[in-house]
Amino acid sequence: MNVGIIIFSRTGNTLSVAEKVRDACLAQGHTAVIERISAENEDPNSKLPVRLKNAPDPVRFDAVIFGAPVQGFSLSPIVKAYLTQIPQITGKEVGCFVTQHFPKPWMGGKQAAKQMCSLCQSKGVVVAEIGIINWMNKSRKGQIDDVASMLSRIGG
Ligand SMILES: Cc1cc2nc3c(=O)[nH]c(=O)nc-3n(C[C@H](O)[C@H](O)[C@H](O)COP(=O)(O)O)c2cc1C
Repeated sequence: MNVGIIIFSRTGNTLSVAEKVRDACLAQGHTAVIERISAENEDPNSKLPVRLKNAPDPVRFDAVIFGAPVQGFSLSPIVKAYLTQIPQITGKEVGCFVTQHFPKPWMGGKQAAKQMCSLCQSKGVVVAEIGIINWMNKSRKGQIDDVASMLSRIGG
């Protein structure tokens, strides 16, 4: 299966998880690439509307894994803007993950994950698996390994 791992990462946490997910997908025999979302202004304190600079096309993949940071107890506005503007992706296998600083999923991760699921649903897909990584949790390494292994199995 041709897997696209489409992420936004400002300080590298989401990217480092994406690299583990990619390696797990490759180990399962899939092809897998990481593609990065970017915006003209990535300052999290900016009040300007998001203008995407790079918006990877999810349509050419059989399976897509979206990854995003949590921002302000919510999904990163850049990923929100990206998922809002992609075309319908009906028929694809889709998984998601979020990274957050705080140690517990209720500190923004669950909310962001829910938002990703409903944005994906609006694009015609039900998210098969979703993972939350809590950067300050002492089990972070195990969380990353579990999420990578779970997401590498989407689509069988
Ligand atoms: C403006 C801003 C708001 C944030 N809000 C939250 C939050 O509500 N909950 C949380 O756990 N982490 C929060 N974080 C931390 C990031 O979600 C976390 O560091 C994430 O892993 C960063 O991913 P990245 O390195 O891929 O950019 C926030 C970070 C920024 C910059």
